[in-house]
Amino acid sequence: MNLNITHRPRRMRKSKSVRDLIQETTLDISQLVFPVFVKGEGNIPEKIDSMPEIYRWPINLLVPKILEWKELGLTSFAIFPQIHQNKKCDQGIEFLNPDSLVYQAAKEIKASVSDVILIGDLALDPYTSHGHDGVLSENGEINNDKTVEILSNGALLSADAGYDFLAPSDMMDGRISAIRKKLDQNNMIDTGIISYSAKFSSAYYGPFRDALGTGHKTPIDKSTYQLNPKNAREAKRELALDFEEGADILMVKPAEPYLDIINYAKSNFNIPVAAYQVSGEYSRIWAAHQNGWLNLELCALESLYSIKRAGADIIFSYFAEKLAFKI
Ligand code: PBG
Repeated sequence: MNLNITHRPRRMRKSKSVRDLIQETTLDISQLVFPVFVKGEGNIPEKIDSMPEIYRWPINLLVPKILEWKELGLTSFAIFPQIHQNKKCDQGIEFLNPDSLVYQAAKEIKASVSDVILIGDLALDPYTSHGHDGVLSENGEINNDKTVEILSNGALLSADAGYDFLAPSDMMDGRISAIRKKLDQNNMIDTGIISYSAKFSSAYYGPFRDALGTGHKTPIDKSTYQLNPKNAREAKRELALDFEEGADILMVKPAEPYLDIINYAKSNFNIPVAAYQVSGEYSRIWAAHQNGWLNLELCALESLYSIKRAGADIIFSYFAEKLAFKI
């Protein structure tokens, strides 16, 4: 039977070379950021139960490890500190200690590794005993403006320690302009800002909170500052504000559940868009793989390609090391 049809799109899929010829989305390892956990104690890497193959690294092993990762082609690292419980308090003051773990890590890496991009997360949750990203007022609510002041001071310490980009992940109002102003006043004009602009109040952060010990027995509710997963318009407003306030890169987080927001950011602002494939996105693929239900590498790649296709220029991913040979 001849269908007598004009269009036969399957012609464009008839062989691997034709499929490769018309492939629309590509991934390059230079576009991946590898999130790294660092710890203050011990001298062996420590497993994180809910994140297979991801470790907390003591500083003395981190520098050689970064050199190894660079051999794989990875160039950008986001550093997250696990702060010892006895250094945490309700004000998170350890964040303003210039010798704190996260600053020490950057100094040591920058002293020994050339051509590496370090991204410093700015938020108080690793440092506060209550696990919130900001300080609380007497009534127990987040004190936005006080938190922004602390973050701006921490931004200077981070820039000073050698971070190339600062990534405020706190979702306080007005923090991008305050941080930019503080950096500029102190001549840190080359330190950039990757703003977690559309950061949703997501259940997918669970394994990350295990990794840093910022989780609490009852899941901590950040919905007075992180975005409601049901809202797109509100996310668009946050993106616009951070763009106007001077962010160099806009970030959407989590990534795969929010492809619509990534696509909006890409289409509406002429600056790079980053997406953070968060811990729970990583662990759900791993868990299904461990059950024999999904193919780990294929699903991880499909996830990354979908994030890229939606419009992300840069992807933060815990799969970066594992997939370095595949992309
Ligand atoms: C904290 C922060 C979080 C993540 C990055 N920075 C967790 C949170 O907001 O509770 C999550 C990253 C991940 O899940 O991989 N400011």
